[in-house]
Amino acid sequence: MKDFSALAAPESEEGRLLARLDPSRMPRHVAIIMDGNGRWARSRRLPRVAGHRAGIRSVRETVESAARLGLEVLTLYAFSQENWKRPRSEVDTLMDLLQEYLRKELATLHENRIRFSVLGRLAALRPAIRGELEGAVAATAGHDGLRFNIAISYGGRAEIADACRAIVRDGLAEEAVDEAAIAARLYTAGQPDPDLLIRTSGEMRVSNFLLWQIAYAEIHVTPTLWPDFRFRHFLEALLDYQGRERRYGGIEDGEEIAGGAAAARG
Ligand code: FPP
Repeated sequence: MKDFSALAAPESEEGRLLARLDPSRMPRHVAIIMDGNGRWARSRRLPRVAGHRAGIRSVRETVESAARLGLEVLTLYAFSQENWKRPRSEVDTLMDLLQEYLRKELATLHENRIRFSVLGRLAALRPAIRGELEGAVAATAGHDGLRFNIAISYGGRAEIADACRAIVRDGLAEEAVDEAAIAARLYTAGQPDPDLLIRTSGEMRVSNFLLWQIAYAEIHVTPTLWPDFRFRHFLEALLDYQGRERRYGGIEDGEEIAGGAAAARG
């Protein structure tokens, strides 16, 4: 079992949060909707893109934390299909930041044996960025540490539609189309579903993110804006998760079933 004591000084705020974390009840997959970059920038009278730039530090720290905590999968929502509607200059900056991030962080991904993947309709991306992303995916494919997914040009409904198309392409018989057949054709095929979905900046929405995969995820919404999201916020989310009782539509252990029918739904 993981020992977290080396991850922060015991007397620090992070150290106190870590001491409360149960290493045997960690989520396997954490997915994050990174939100609030624009508000972070506006509150400082800066252009929106300054918020995205500041958000890179949170990305870097969160990936590192997830690897050090021994999580299996971390998925970050970097760019939705709807984000293509933003002003051209903002889209270009986001793509440039992604490219810059990959160039700067590839060595760190290797050092930490992180396996990098991309979720989304990549055909919509500039060829140079697509090439860079695919290069990083191929270069880290043999790693056995954290699996780090970035969702780019991503839409949950589009992902399900793509899986349906693959089913038709594969010529499956009607009886063979079940949940496993769909899951095997999602962008996350072979990965565990998220146990914990974190959203920053206080918005209570799932925004078309991993719609199929979050069916039973616990949701943690923090008012913290993404550029301010630090290790302690990540730990607070994990502690919140560990305080939840997961029921997957069933009933509590040992709970009496009134009238012989379980009414519990979620
Ligand atoms: C939401 O904030 C954030 C995004 C649309 C982009 C997130 C991207 C990054 C943090 C940088 C690139 C990512 C990686 C993985 C290198 P918003 O602009 O919608 O904020 P607002 O709701 O306050 O306006």
